[in-house]
Amino acid sequence: MEALLVRKLGDPTLPPNASENSSLGLSTSYPIPNLNSPNSVRVRVKATSLNFANYLQVLGKYQEKPPLPFIPGSDYSGVVDAVGPKVTNFKIGDPVCSFAALGSFAQFVIANESDLFRVPDGCDLVAAGALPVAYGTSHVALVHRAQLRPKQVLLVLGAAGGVGLSAVQIGKVCGATVIAVARGKEKVQFLKSLGVDHAVDLSNANVIESVKGFLKSRKLKGIDVLYDPVGGKLTKDSLKLLNWGAQILVIGFASGEVPVIPANIALVKVKHSNGQGRAQTKLFLYHHPCQSVHHLYRCANHLPQPLANYVTVLGD
Ligand SMILES: NC(=O)c1ccc[n+]([C@@H]2O[C@H](COP(=O)([O-])OP(=O)(O)OC[C@H]3O[C@@H](n4cnc5c(N)ncnc54)[C@H](OP(=O)(O)O)[C@@H]3O)[C@@H](O)[C@H]2O)c1
Repeated sequence: MEALLVRKLGDPTLPPNASENSSLGLSTSYPIPNLNSPNSVRVRVKATSLNFANYLQVLGKYQEKPPLPFIPGSDYSGVVDAVGPKVTNFKIGDPVCSFAALGSFAQFVIANESDLFRVPDGCDLVAAGALPVAYGTSHVALVHRAQLRPKQVLLVLGAAGGVGLSAVQIGKVCGATVIAVARGKEKVQFLKSLGVDHAVDLSNANVIESVKGFLKSRKLKGIDVLYDPVGGKLTKDSLKLLNWGAQILVIGFASGEVPVIPANIALVKVKHSNGQGRAQTKLFLYHHPCQSVHHLYRCANHLPQPLANYVTVLGD
């Protein structure tokens, strides 16, 4: 089968097989993987999406570093090609989608049947190939962890990116007031077409002033849920917009800069939240359930006290 291979860690933007310096190589004779358990399913991949984590993996900057060579790629859609003897939920020909730690940038991938989702009739398989990581991340973070409610104010950073866009859409479905932050006129126009309540174009506006103006115009007190896949200075600015008892969803660091969240921000919010010194500000470090939780425990261990007391470790 054809498969994209990471032969050495390095720049993912160089074309495969282009030179000795290319980290990626295209193999046209990679062995088709065999079923590896009675409950395993082989899927013929129709579509696979490119996530930020895939980019980091090729660079060697992702938290999990598989041995070389490896096939990158995480979420995918396709059609069931073979099933193990104990598979009960799927048959050959069924349309499915799923995510894996590695391996979807290939023509075939092996999954356990419990990790597969059936793609409903009428749903485009290519669209389904982009669902699991981005929408799975935002759904677990916003619905299960933050328990976003109607009329709460949700601020989405990096709103025109993969996870950001899914957070905007899920936020609207939850009935939240959604504020989106992106860079560039075209992206902001697109976000407005999705029905966001307010959009900030970082390329020509100050996020604090713009969001404060909007909150004032709607008589709103502040941000109830901050969805942050960007990090850096933008996180720090956004903290100034939080409502009492706000929840911060730390999703990722697309800016390349891990933000330092001052403990006094949490302290001030907590102190005045209910007058009894009870913690109300929550910081959720979100990690996708398909990945190991150990990284989160490591993150929690590095947070300054007392902030670490308010960290909920996700992904368990
Ligand atoms: N926790 C999890 O389970 C999980 C799951 C998925 C992703 N993630 C993480 O979430 C992050 C985003 O992933 P993605 O797939 O959505 O990536 P993406 O599609 O590349 O989107 C990233 C967004 O961040 C914005 N951005 C980057 N640098 C910025 C800066 N300095 N200031 C303002 N905005 C900036 C970009 O804005 P422009 O569009 O304006 O360039 C882009 O829209 C990554 O760190 C990824 O590893 C985590």
